[in-house]
Amino acid sequence: MPSNHTTEMVRNKVAPLYERVKKFIPEMEWPVHADHIAAINQLKKSRNAVILAHNYQTPEIFHCVADITGDSLALAQRAVDTDADVIVLAGVHFMAETAKLLNPGKTVLMPDLNAGCSLADSITAADVRKLREQYPGVPVVTYVNTSAEVKAECDICCTSGNAVAIVESLGSDKVIFVPDEYLAAYVAEHTDVEIISWKGHCEVHERFTAAEIDSFREGHAGLKVIAHPECPPDVLASADFVGSTAQMQDYVVNERPDKVLMLTECSMSDNVSISVEDVEFIRPCNLCPHMKRITLANIQQSLETLTPAVEIDESVAIRARAAVERMLAVGRSQLTKVAALSG
Ligand code: 13P
Ligand code: SF4
Repeated sequence: MPSNHTTEMVRNKVAPLYERVKKFIPEMEWPVHADHIAAINQLKKSRNAVILAHNYQTPEIFHCVADITGDSLALAQRAVDTDADVIVLAGVHFMAETAKLLNPGKTVLMPDLNAGCSLADSITAADVRKLREQYPGVPVVTYVNTSAEVKAECDICCTSGNAVAIVESLGSDKVIFVPDEYLAAYVAEHTDVEIISWKGHCEVHERFTAAEIDSFREGHAGLKVIAHPECPPDVLASADFVGSTAQMQDYVVNERPDKVLMLTECSMSDNVSISVEDVEFIRPCNLCPHMKRITLANIQQSLETLTPAVEIDESVAIRARAAVERMLAVGRSQLTKVAALSG
């Protein structure tokens, strides 16, 4: 048992972090968080570990222990660069699998293996094989929100931040796009490529309605509505801006609307509002029950025990990795083109 003096020293050390999250964490709850945060930060050093946290993680994870934060694309890109021995994925299972695909020699920890995703659950590798039989020769793009087995059956991966560019990079006039039906519809609206879609939905974003937006606009003059492309098409049509979670954050940081409604997971508004104090955030939001499985307590436990670690069968990993690496290569070649144009 640590002495009262030791406990107080530990809490004092992490006290400055409370300033960042005090809007969302009652003072009486902070000591519990503070003890986990101090332990996690110590374990990160002793394990040579980094924590990658998705934008939907709660503020005490996102602002107090994460080393790298972002949307799925940024987490995949940054996972490649790390020289840590251990990666903790504070997010959902497909994100940990992506990190493992890109870092086969590292330990990738997923604090709760049950943190899934309704989109990833909506399609199997056998479904993709059937689609290929149905549409011979048509390339398959998979949203990153899928299992490694599904990625292994596809030509290339994409995220909500680069879906249109990835579809167009294939140079095909027809593309199969799985599994998010609404993201597929959004892509179809922004390209001349014919899109064949699947009926997968995000259980969080499919619940937003255009009627809900109308009633918030009535109550809040000048409200800017920004939406994730996993929302239904009528919701996207009513929004002022559509983008990945990172693009939504950039919109708020750069445009500084007086009032904003972010149609996405609840923690996103909390995390962004901490860095833009002059913007009023109007909610509703919907919770992702999978993202919420990750807690400071299970991150700490995971670092202590180095479990549960994500493993992917090598015969699957080789093909799934190729799909993710093709996506990252498209991003790099576009950056090279931009640099050449501006240089
Ligand atoms: P982003 O890639 O935009 O962060 O989205 C991930 C996700 O799961 C959205 O629900
Ligand atoms: Fe999956 Fe939706 Fe949760 Fe994102 S918010 S992880 S798409 S269920």
